[in-house]
Amino acid sequence: MTEQRRGIILIGAPGSGKGTQAKKMKAALGYAHISTGDLLRAAVAEDSELGRKAKGYMDEGQLVPDSLVIDLLKEALGGPEAQQGFILDGFPRTMAQADALDAEVTVDRVVALQVPFDLIEERITGRRMSKSGHVYHVKHNPPKVDGVCDATGEALYQRSDDTAPKVVARLAKFESETRAVIAHYQHKGVVVEVDGVGDPSEIFTRVMAVL
Ligand code: AP5
Ligand code: MG
Repeated sequence: MTEQRRGIILIGAPGSGKGTQAKKMKAALGYAHISTGDLLRAAVAEDSELGRKAKGYMDEGQLVPDSLVIDLLKEALGGPEAQQGFILDGFPRTMAQADALDAEVTVDRVVALQVPFDLIEERITGRRMSKSGHVYHVKHNPPKVDGVCDATGEALYQRSDDTAPKVVARLAKFESETRAVIAHYQHKGVVVEVDGVGDPSEIFTRVMAVL
């Protein structure tokens, strides 16, 4: 049984800017931003059972098993924030996840961010994060004080999977698993491709124009 509420998927290679754009969309639209990567990292930080199961896959740039991620997603979709609308960032990444999602909700738009692979490694290896989820880039979006979050004063860290060899593994998974998900939604006629190169605010204007 599917239901009607506004559902948007942001899809794209690792480092294509899904998180950056999803935060802007959440601020503009008031929809829930559901990032399975963020939820999994929170589970790892809490050392929950899910976090312990997921950590090894994430550290190696591999996908976490579908059953774990699908349960996590269903829980997030059931939350109060997601009832008006939701922006999915990093889900679905496999056909099993897409099928599970389609059985739950209708997706209105799939925004596919297009970024050439030669820009991806530079974006990912330059990313720095704060524990509370603020994201910087050493060159494109540096904090005012090196290594310190502008918003919270927390120390910035690098994700364990944000190294050059792990980027290769993550991109390989994108090609072998997630390309098919894009094709699946293309057949449904809901995919719009958006150029993900340029200033994040310009890209945001492009995204909003196609919603
Ligand atoms: P996840 O956290 O989803 O990582 P990802 O898909 O690899 O994507 P990223 O978060 O690396 O990049 P992004 O597209 O969000 O880019 P961002 O905006 O940060 O998943 C991590 C892991 O969790 C997976 O490998 C897997 O193990 C597991 N997982 C998660 N979901 C799963 C699922 N559904 N199934 C199975 N396993 C799952 O930007 C990147 C950097 O570039 C930042 O520094 C940013 O400041 C900068 N930047 C952004 N936009 C621009 C721009 N326009 N110009 C210049 N720099 C920019
Ligand atoms: Mg992200």
